[in-house]
Amino acid sequence: MREFTSCEHLAIILEAITTASTELSQQIRGAGLHNHILGQEGRVNVQGEVQQKLDVLADRTFIQTFLGCGIVCGIASEENDEFVAFDNEVSRNGDFVVMFDPLDGSSNIDVNVSIGTIFSVYRRVSAKGSLPTLKDMLQPGTEQVMAGYVLYGSSTMLVFSVGKGVHGFTLNPATGQFCLSHHAMQMPENGRFYAMNEGNILECEEGLVRYIKYCQSRENQTGMPYSGRYIGSLVADFHRNLIKGGIYIYPVVSSAPEGRLRLLYECNPLAFIAEQAGGLATTGRQRILDVIPTHLHQRVPYFVGSKHMVEKAMAFLD
Ligand code: AHG
Ligand code: MN
Ligand code: MN
Repeated sequence: MREFTSCEHLAIILEAITTASTELSQQIRGAGLHNHILGQEGRVNVQGEVQQKLDVLADRTFIQTFLGCGIVCGIASEENDEFVAFDNEVSRNGDFVVMFDPLDGSSNIDVNVSIGTIFSVYRRVSAKGSLPTLKDMLQPGTEQVMAGYVLYGSSTMLVFSVGKGVHGFTLNPATGQFCLSHHAMQMPENGRFYAMNEGNILECEEGLVRYIKYCQSRENQTGMPYSGRYIGSLVADFHRNLIKGGIYIYPVVSSAPEGRLRLLYECNPLAFIAEQAGGLATTGRQRILDVIPTHLHQRVPYFVGSKHMVEKAMAFLD
């Protein structure tokens, strides 16, 4: 039998993602009607966060689908303390690992606000035929071969890139198919939206406080205060900025001294999408995709969005 091409491999992984997310989307659409969807699961994950039922359901759904697709040898996700190696003969010969946030925006599940799934795919660096290792998971974002997200918003949308631009597909609920609706997406170089949890403003470094004041002033390029928008689901805030232009910031704060967002399954995949769409993603001081990961659930400060806005924000920092 001939070997699959890289393109066919990525199509298989994408198929797994659309299968799992279609199932999840159906569950989410009826969330208020089903006891097993809303509310807390009762366990605390490695991040110290109380898991929601939907966090766990989403995690299981994606793991099962990646396990079944045959070319993924292991995964790491927000909901598992350690990475999961798929220990069967077919998966051990798989070429890829997937990092994912099964459900982003957990605090919005119970209140019917947009949530999402974020994913990042790497080619393994360990030998085929063996179990994957931590090294496979701790690759810099520049090595991503595919990344994207599914947004369960007013419609369900898949946005992804294999390093040749960004494309968006909308789920047709009548047929269960994702249809190309946003071809070659480009993030505007400037925008008039800023997104940050301003409840933290008194804890932010001085340069960032000055940047937020600049956003609220008439000194910016629009001559008007920017509009503040903060959904509290990174994936939804990011998607708005991708389409309309804007900046999202989650800085270092005292309750999150390294930042809150996770490098491997939140920041890197969206940084890949941002760059592919002409935007930027940095820690405020360094390109996100260049950060060398040291541990699975590593957190980083995050500035992502329209190119000129991220550059401007960075210019305010020391
Ligand atoms: P998750 O639900 O996967 O834990 O991620 C939540 C993240 C992100 O989606 C959101 O932008 C941010 O945490 C919200 O944090 P605050 O409540 O501190 O603003
Ligand atoms: Mn998240
Ligand atoms: Mn999550």
